[in-house]
This record gives sequence, C-alpha cells and structure tokens, in this order.
Amino acid sequence: MTTVLHIDASVRAVSNPNPEHDSISKKLARRFISAFKSMIDIDEYMYRDVGINPPQYITQDWIGAVFTPEHNRTAEQKQVLAQSDEYIAELKKADIIVISSPMYNYGMPAQLKAWFDQIVRINKTFDFDLARGDRPLAPLLTGKTLVIITSSGEFGFEKGGINEAYGHLVPHLRTLSKYLGVTEIFEIASEYQEFADHRHQASLTQAEAKADKIAGELAKNLKPVTC
Ligand SMILES: Cc1cc2nc3c(=O)[nH]c(=O)nc-3n(C[C@H](O)[C@H](O)[C@H](O)COP(=O)(O)O)c2cc1C
Repeated sequence: MTTVLHIDASVRAVSNPNPEHDSISKKLARRFISAFKSMIDIDEYMYRDVGINPPQYITQDWIGAVFTPEHNRTAEQKQVLAQSDEYIAELKKADIIVISSPMYNYGMPAQLKAWFDQIVRINKTFDFDLARGDRPLAPLLTGKTLVIITSSGEFGFEKGGINEAYGHLVPHLRTLSKYLGVTEIFEIASEYQEFADHRHQASLTQAEAKADKIAGELAKNLKPVTC
C-alpha cells in the first residue's frame, strides 16, 4: 500500500484529434501508473497537470508571507500561500512521486519550475542554519522515491552523450529532488522526437519497456511478504 503523487508538465494533452500531437512524456507516465496500479493497491493517487493548469509564479508578497512567522500572518498572506500549502500537503503524503516532463529549451518547462518554486519552501520542505557552515540548507522530508519521465526532440543528454553539456532537465530535477525528500530515483527517457525516425521509435520502445520494468520493481518491493 502506497501513496502516489503524479505531476505532468507538458503543455500538450495526452490525447489529441491528431495523435502525432500527443504528449510523449504524459503517455509514458500513464503507462507507468497503469502498470504500477495493476500490480499493487494504491492508497491514494494524487494528480496534477501543471502544464495545462500552471501554478502561480511566486511574488515579493509570497516571499514576505513565507518569512512572516505563521502566527503573525495576515489573512491576505495566508491566501498568498494557499497554493503552496496545498502542494506541500500533497508532497508530504506521497511515498512515490512521478514527474513527467518535456525538455523545453534544454531544461524543464516554466510551469514545472513554478511548481518547484511553490514547494521548496523554508521551514516546510527545508530549513536553513548557518551553523551547518557552507551548506546551510537541509531537507525536512525523506524516504521518498522519484520516477523521472522525460521526452526530448534531440538526444545524447546523458553522461558522455553528444549533448551532455546541454542536458539541464534531468540534472536540475535531480538537484531539486533533495528538497522533495527523495532518496531513490529512477529515470525513463524518450529521445529523438524531432527526428521522427527509427531511432525515435527505438527510444520510445525502450522507454515503454523501462516504465513497465520499474513499475514491476517498485511494486515488488512494496508487496507485503506472505509466508
Ligand atoms: C517550446 C519547445 C522547446 C523545446 N526545446 C527543446 C530542446 O531544447 N531540446 C530538445 O531536445 N527538444 C526540445 N523540444 C522538443 C520536445 O522536447 C519534444 O517535442 C518532446 O517530445 C515534448 O514532450 P511531450 O511530447 O511530452 O510534449 C522543444 C519543444 C518545444 C515545444
């Protein structure tokens, strides 16, 4: 039994009148979720499509509210933080976080970054103490598993790949995952979308197989041992 938080970030819908416009990352995430659900009972499944329903951008008022002690916050400040509070409550409940994201301009979509900006919040998901020296930030959550599912038009963003230096999507997600309380990460990537050739088909096929495999591994680890 487990709780899953699923975040999709593509601005494309999962299915469109022309299937060539369907979001690859969302389709892969759905495949992963349905494989996982077929193997294990999920206590709670929480879903957000931040690509189609973008989070608010943080503002100066948001920062002011965050740094105001909770008991001193005005009604307006509480309202400014309402979306952040809601996202953080979902994150706290989650055992497994699934983030599907397209690569836009070599990184994550602004909508997904906006979700992280609402979530990575002082005294909620991390705290700050100069007594820690040069690394004063420490996460407050732990023990979560993250499944990162990505789709890109080009290829070779992995270590040693031809576009390694431009691959800011997965490294950024990995860096931020610390503040989600993530201690285990799985990656599924489809590449070559813009080439629309056999390499894209092969990449997609391996990503689908990997989604099924990781779903199986996670479900197996969670299943109660029966004597
Ligand atoms: C605005 C925009 C920017 C993009 N930038 C990149 C990029 O920098 N590198 C890349 O490999 N692909 C890029 N692509 C291609 C997408 O990553 C690719 O179409 C991917 O499949 C989109 O994910 P989705 O299918 O889940 O919507 C871009 C696409 C769009 C629409």
